Amino acid sequence: MTSTAHTPPAHAPLVDSTVALLVKGYGWLPDLRRRAGEAEAVPVRVLGRRAVALHGPRAVPFFYDEHNVRREGALPGPVLDTLFGRGAVHTLDGGAHRERKALFLALLKDPERIKDLTERAQGAWDRAESRWAGQERAVLFDEAARVLTRAVHDWGGIPLADHEEADTARDLVAMVDGFAAVGPRHLRALKARRRQEERLAPLIEEIRTAGVPSGQATVLQAVAAHRDADGEQLDTRTAAVELLNVIRPTVAVTWFVTFAAHALHRWPHHRGPLAEEEAYSTAFAQEVRRFYPFAPFTAGLAATDTHWDEVPVPEGTLVLFDLYGHNHDPALWADPYLFDPARFTGPAARTAPDAMIPQGGGDPATGHRCPGEDITVALLAALTPRLARLPHSVPDQDLSIPLHRVPTRPRSGYVMADIDPARHSTGKAARG
Ligand code: HEM
Repeated sequence: MTSTAHTPPAHAPLVDSTVALLVKGYGWLPDLRRRAGEAEAVPVRVLGRRAVALHGPRAVPFFYDEHNVRREGALPGPVLDTLFGRGAVHTLDGGAHRERKALFLALLKDPERIKDLTERAQGAWDRAESRWAGQERAVLFDEAARVLTRAVHDWGGIPLADHEEADTARDLVAMVDGFAAVGPRHLRALKARRRQEERLAPLIEEIRTAGVPSGQATVLQAVAAHRDADGEQLDTRTAAVELLNVIRPTVAVTWFVTFAAHALHRWPHHRGPLAEEEAYSTAFAQEVRRFYPFAPFTAGLAATDTHWDEVPVPEGTLVLFDLYGHNHDPALWADPYLFDPARFTGPAARTAPDAMIPQGGGDPATGHRCPGEDITVALLAALTPRLARLPHSVPDQDLSIPLHRVPTRPRSGYVMADIDPARHSTGKAARG
């Protein structure tokens, strides 16, 4: 496929950009593009291999067509051993991918299940508020991870004793936090994944021995019973991997909850409408997903010799798709560094599925777009009004968000003090 809008350099440079990626983090691809005259396809060399970085809505159908870009072999081992797991849906193509993906779509796109999860998350948040009230301070990042860990386990029919909650939340966070790191953060992520796969595998075996009862299956039961395109059940470890691919990213919504707190602290005028107007919470959730940095890009391998925007893309080339840059491109978003939920309200609201792609683009049923977007938005829309109403003060702390760190977050995790749920109010809850 080709297009003619830009004339980018056609060949990969000789110099490898891995160090630049590590140094610049979220700024790496946008910088690369700027230096290539805002080209929508930029040849680059990274991780010792030839690559091309794609940007913009025109490239979404190209990137998400598996005749052009496949996923098998695209993700480096250290990412699989921490974030996604070996044999995960992220690594499959063709019929094998579609069959596995159907499992996720059935569990994650069902409005009744989403409602159940958000209600459980609200219940867990309300119970946690009472705990915070008895503490001098609470770090929202850690607390939100516990709330979501409790909610997703109860929702998914996955046993989790109270005394396991905090450690499990820490592991699930570590798997995300350390996937792109070197050193201790990465080691923590590796150990966390090993521990969590070992925790869940026996649960899969138990369910299989007991048999899945008729009626609506829990997430645990559905994953245990799932049959792949070859008609076989997943081996126990792969089933644990996929169960974690529901649990772990649900807990990762913690990042967005913490970013939401950051936004409410920086721009407190959003507190009132968020606390009081139900419709505002979805627009606010969407703007948090657009504005704050989480997934910088996604990646595949060229499935065949092809080209995009006159840039040759030989088979096997690493193809990167720019997510963070897309959501901050001034050609796509007016004043992109302004935090403005109004972008998502009223007749001019940006609602096209590929207008915003913090969790990937294209059709989630046929491509690799995240199946958890509805859950992410629903959880944020359910929890952030509670955050806006929670009376607390914000002591001195480092709320900066380093863009070289992937994934990043406010450095302090958003420390709250003087938490007093008994004074629940609207709009003017946080002081300091
Ligand atoms: C915390 C917010 C989240 C972010 C930033 C996020 C981001 C992403 C991204 C960037 C992808 C890859 C898209 C691609 O390669 O084209 C993805 C895939 C995926 N996500 Fe999410 N996600 C989030 C929440 C969730 C939730 C809540 C779930 C499940 C409950 C989930 C489950 C998955 C799965 C299973 C895939 C693999 C899809 C496939 O390969 O076909 N994610 N996500």
